[in-house]
Amino acid sequence: MIKFISTEDTLTLRSPVLREGLDPELCRFEGDEDELSFHLGYFKDDILVCIASFHQQGREGFNGMGYQLRGMATLPAYQGTGIGNQLVNFSIIYLRGQKANYLWCNARKVAFRFYIGLGFEFISEEFDIPGIGPHKAMYLKIQ
Ligand SMILES: CC(C)(COP(=O)(O)OP(=O)(O)OC[C@H]1O[C@@H](n2cnc3c(N)ncnc32)[C@H](O)[C@@H]1OP(=O)(O)O)[C@@H](O)C(=O)NCCC(=O)NCCS
Repeated sequence: MIKFISTEDTLTLRSPVLREGLDPELCRFEGDEDELSFHLGYFKDDILVCIASFHQQGREGFNGMGYQLRGMATLPAYQGTGIGNQLVNFSIIYLRGQKANYLWCNARKVAFRFYIGLGFEFISEEFDIPGIGPHKAMYLKIQ
């Protein structure tokens, strides 16, 4: 089941899955609490197993209302079972209803195939985020 969740809820997965167990309080993103930001969680048997955050944040060079997808993470035991795909597809339907025009993200290299499977395309060269690794910006038109 997919639900809207709080920033606090996301921290319990961001820390182990994205930041190698870093203090959850240090896993907050600027903009998490903005009025137009939202967070989604996928629950399996009442356990939060997958999260994603969405900040209304356009990207230079693109027209219309843009949202940045951040902090996409699925607990390792549940990866590769289609849950992340379902969560992002839910967000796309919701964002279309909010009149958003596109979704973009800074994708980790290990996740390129995941985003390509959702229809995203590359919009930057590869760049490094220190301590995390190689990334490319990716873009998905919503409407
Ligand atoms: C990247 C990540 C978020 C994807 O989430 P996920 O829940 O594993 O994603 P899905 O299961 O929907 O899709 C992942 C793969 O499973 C495949 N898949 C989709 N539905 C499936 C199903 N029903 N059964 C089996 N595999 C399935 C997809 O085709 C995809 O395969 P591929 O990318 O190897 O071609 C997750 O792997 C993760 O948390 N990784 C570590 C953190 C990370 O890198 N986050 C991204 C930051 S940008």
